Amino acid sequence: MTVARERIAAMAALVALVALATPALAADGAEVHGRACKKCHRTGVDDAPITGDREAWAPLVKTGREALIKSVIDGKGKMEPRANRPELTDEEIAASVDYFLELVK
Ligand code: HEC
Repeated sequence: MTVARERIAAMAALVALVALATPALAADGAEVHGRACKKCHRTGVDDAPITGDREAWAPLVKTGREALIKSVIDGKGKMEPRANRPELTDEEIAASVDYFLELVK
């Protein structure tokens, strides 16, 4: 009886842990930006549009989210495909593009 109770308690703890960990699995655009985009986009290396610069991003906002995500995946100008980070998932790239767009709203 006690053993069964302990098992149930252990299972409940596990379920709670998984539930807690799940949001961390969703791509975090700010985190991806810091890891993979910032080094060029904070400083504007090779005329990269600067993070949070409304003027620089205005024409890009018009281009639209999907086209921008495609630019990052395929590469554009001096920006290599997937920003030269092949380990990035499409979801992480989309989240980082959303982060850029959020900052210039
Ligand atoms: C090695 C430097 C570098 C890194 C790292 C980098 N970029 Fe870029 N990015 C650029 C440059 C340079 C341009 C301008 C390209 C052009 O218009 O010729 C650019 C352009 C863009 C554009 C506009 C594309 C378009 O269609 O005009 C987006 C969106 C973008 N970057 C997003 C990102 C994201 C998201 C990341 C991180 C996952 C990232 N970049 C990482 C250099 C970089």
